[in-house]
This record gives sequence, C-alpha cells and structure tokens, in this order.
Amino acid sequence: MRDVAVIGVGMTKFGERWDKQLRDLFVEAGNEALKDANMGRDEVQALFVGNFSAGSFVGQEHVAPLLSDYLSLKSKPAFRVESACASSAMAFNLACMAVASGTYDIVMVGGVEKMTDVSAPEATSVYAKAMDAEWESFFGLTLPAAFALIARRHFVQYGTKPEQLAMVSVKNHRNGSKNPLAQFQFEVTVERVLSSPIVSDPLHVLDCSPVTDGAAAVILCSAELARKYTDTPVYVLGFGVASDSMALHDRPDITTLGAVVKASRQAYRMAGIEPKDVDVAELHDSFTIAEIILYEDLGFCEKGKGGMMIQEGETEIGGRIPVNPSGGLKARGHPVGASGAAQIVEIVKQLRGEAGRRQVPGAEIGMTQSMGGTASTCAVHIFGRRKR
Ligand code: COA
Repeated sequence: MRDVAVIGVGMTKFGERWDKQLRDLFVEAGNEALKDANMGRDEVQALFVGNFSAGSFVGQEHVAPLLSDYLSLKSKPAFRVESACASSAMAFNLACMAVASGTYDIVMVGGVEKMTDVSAPEATSVYAKAMDAEWESFFGLTLPAAFALIARRHFVQYGTKPEQLAMVSVKNHRNGSKNPLAQFQFEVTVERVLSSPIVSDPLHVLDCSPVTDGAAAVILCSAELARKYTDTPVYVLGFGVASDSMALHDRPDITTLGAVVKASRQAYRMAGIEPKDVDVAELHDSFTIAEIILYEDLGFCEKGKGGMMIQEGETEIGGRIPVNPSGGLKARGHPVGASGAAQIVEIVKQLRGEAGRRQVPGAEIGMTQSMGGTASTCAVHIFGRRKR
C-alpha cells in the first residue's frame, strides 16, 4: 500500500446559503481545493463525493455525475457515498484506499448538503432516516431525542451535568467566533445555553448543531507525488472504520459508542500512536453530549470522565487535547454530507499552521472523527506533518 497525502483543501462559508444551489456550493469548494493544490482540473482522475440526502432536501439524486459535470471533470469516474452524517468521511476513506492501492494517483474528495430549503420539521424527518426506520423513527424517535436519551443515561451512570454539556457549546462557539467560514460567529455563556428553548429534554437549542448549507473538498495524491504540488503536504497516517447496530435498543450500553471505540483503535494502531499523541482533533459534536462521550470512547479520558474533561478546560485551544478549533458542528455548522470533509479541511489547515486566530500552536498530529446517525457508522482518520 502506498502512503497518501492531502495537497489541497477548500470549503465554502457555511450557513443559510440562499445565494447558491447545491451544485454551485460544491463547485466553489472544489475550485478552491484545486487552486490550493496548484493543480489543473485535468489532473484529477476521479471524484468521491459524500452526500446524505439531496433527494429529500433539493429533489436531486445522482449527484456524483452532476457535480463532476459542473466542475468540468469531464468523463472521469464519479462516486457518491451515503453514510448519513459520516458521508464525506467515508468517501475520504474509500478515496484513500483507491490512491493507496495504486488505482488512482490523484483524486478529489468532497461533501455537500443544501438543507435550508426545507422547514425545520421536514429537516428533522430527513435526519430521522439515518436511524432504524422500522424500530425507531416509525415510533416518533428523532435524532435530537435519541441523543437526549443517551444524555439522560450518561447523567445517571456517571453524574454528568447539564452545565457540562453547556460548556461544550460555550467552547465551540468561542472557537467558531474565530472562524470566518463558520455559520455562527457569536459567543454564548453557560446561562444562555441553559435558558435557550428545550429541543428534547435535556438538550436545548444551543446543545444542538444547526441546519446548514455548505460544501468542502480536498485533493489527495500518492505521497511520492505530493511535493510536486506543495511544500506542505499533510500525510494520512492511519484510519479506522466501524459499524454498530442501527437501533439503540440493540446496544449493551447506550452511553458507549461501540463503532467509535473500534474505529479509533484501528486508526491508532495503523498510525502507530496513542490517544495522548493527538495534538488537535475535530470531533462529531452533533449534540453536546456526543462530544463528551467521544472524549471517553476515543480514549482521551477514562469512561465517565468526559464531563470533567470539558469542565477542566482540557479540550480548549491551549489545553491538553484541543477539540473542534473550527467551532465544530455546533458553531461551524453541520451540512450533513459535507461535515466529514470540512473536519479534514480544518485539520490540514491546523497542521500547516494556517488556522489564524484559532491555530493550535505547534500541532504535528491531528485527528478527525465523523459518525452517522447515532454512531451506527464511524470513520476516524489520523493525519501528520511527517510520514509514518
Ligand atoms: N444553534 C444556535 N442557534 C440556532 C440553532 C442552533 N442549533 N438553530 C437555530 N438557531 C438560531 C437561528 O440562526 C435563528 O437565529 P436568528 O433569529 O438570529 O436568525 C434562530 O435560532 C431561530 O432559528 P430557526 O431556524 O427558527 O430554528 P428552529 O427552531 O427551526 O431550529 C433546531 C432549531 C434546534 C430544531 C435545529 O437547529 C435542529 O434541528 N438542529 C438539530 C440538527 C440535527 O439533528 N442534525 C443531525 C445531527 S446528527
């Protein structure tokens, strides 16, 4: 297997993008990634695109050839990957394997979602399709409600407090206020989070990621080609992908995300590192409770101690393991199919030292973790400034 490097990244401003259609958003991100890689579009040999539900949100299926067409990639192979919120992380994983195997030398990977054309109740019904349709969403369970159940159970088992959930939102909004591409660039306080309207008890509006439009793209190539295009390649050191049961009731303990545990252990082993070696991480904080559980299941702290980890500031920029310097899904926004790729854009910028006011000083090793639904899918990637 060949080593793989990221040599170009691009993303749109995230938010309510009524000025652009699905295809325009992707073209903007893709063109920026090509420019960043100093590369002509003819050099790209294949496109891998993550998209959750363009059919439901904008009435467009078969998006891979559409996006390839509008990016003028001509007759190159174009693949769409759907894994709910992990769609573009899974697309990235397949693209890595395609380059590592020698099938392609240079590929573009991206993700896009245009969600604000439907109402919030309609969007909630679309998200619910990422859970078990017969055993969960049919009976009225929604994604915020599923994470609310998980939060309640975490409170009972480990004594985690609503204030600790709110601190995740405070941190991620603070980081988002330093990110010009974030949907929300305002700060919040614990009191403001706890007094925002309840979405599903104990989760408030400010515990939830928002409904977002946006796109992100990256260019991958074999490591031996990378220096032809850039002085600052970022190498893929390891990855892991795993699945879990769709329905929460089939899990032995809903406070542990089994796919996250498995995927991260594979990724650490492949990269030859331990959790303590991660300098910066972009994690899937679709709801504040998710970020707290991820600290635990990724091995950043002991099980049950995630609430203390946020309370003690360990995941702040400048802390032991800074998490979500971009603002995360909470503040940067969560255009479902684009979020995995946007995490990679952020980690590449961090490792190149190009993250501006939200830069984690001296970051050498970065992680992205993306999950679909209630973590029935999880993809973890580990990146480094130096090859393995
Ligand atoms: N965080 C912060 N602010 C938010 C927000 C959020 N999650 N959601 C909406 N807002 C803001 C809006 O920007 C708007 O601000 P403005 O008045 O200054 O323009 C205001 O709140 C009202 O927005 P509105 O669109 O009416 O909110 P809503 O009630 O329709 O939607 C939620 C709020 C929480 C229901 C929606 O954000 C949501 O569904 N989030 C969960 C998404 C989800 O489940 N994703 C899948 C995860 S895996």
